[in-house]
Amino acid sequence: MRTAIYPGSFDPLTLGHLDIIERASKMFDKVIVCILINSGKKTSLFSLDERVIMLSDVLSKYDNVTVASYKGLLIDFARENDTNIIIRGLREVTDFACELQMAQGNLAMSRTLRTEDKDFDVETLFLATSPEYSFISSTMVREFASYGRSVKGFVPDEIVPLIEAKFRS
Ligand code: COA
Repeated sequence: MRTAIYPGSFDPLTLGHLDIIERASKMFDKVIVCILINSGKKTSLFSLDERVIMLSDVLSKYDNVTVASYKGLLIDFARENDTNIIIRGLREVTDFACELQMAQGNLAMSRTLRTEDKDFDVETLFLATSPEYSFISSTMVREFASYGRSVKGFVPDEIVPLIEAKFRS
């Protein structure tokens, strides 16, 4: 049974994320979409709990996809879930620089946790984002919505009213 983790901050989930999740779900027996804290992002639109509900709702149509949240390191979540495979999407070259650093950091740190009888090398696999979504980012979605523009076509339809409600309140 091959399980992969698709981690992210998903604030909010976009069609770009969904594209990666759908494709990963065809490649692995199980995909855990894990909402984590990105320490570089100081403020958020949706709380962790709100994001769990939002993602669980949108992803309920995929039999082999589950949603989790974790306030800790990705490699620890991976260990606790008995998998060492991380999936990330790449949109363009600037993504690559950060993603490579993160992948190598996670690999190096996971290697420090090796024991005599068990290794646990956390491997990151990259999927190229489908070109129609490569310009989308959660920041862009939040910004358009904050000026009252509809973000239909940027995020799954179910999420549009949730984002609009956030900015109305
Ligand atoms: N198509 C379109 N857009 C995409 C995309 C795709 N396929 N994949 C990602 N994006 C966008 C997102 O919308 C998001 O936009 P934003 O920067 O405007 O918010 C951006 O790319 C990346 O966001 P996302 O993938 O949701 O999360 P992230 O990069 O913030 O996730 C974590 C980083 C959470 C995985 C990382 O910080 C982490 O692992 N944290 C846990 C602590 C830890 O282990 N730290 C050590 C890391 S080495």
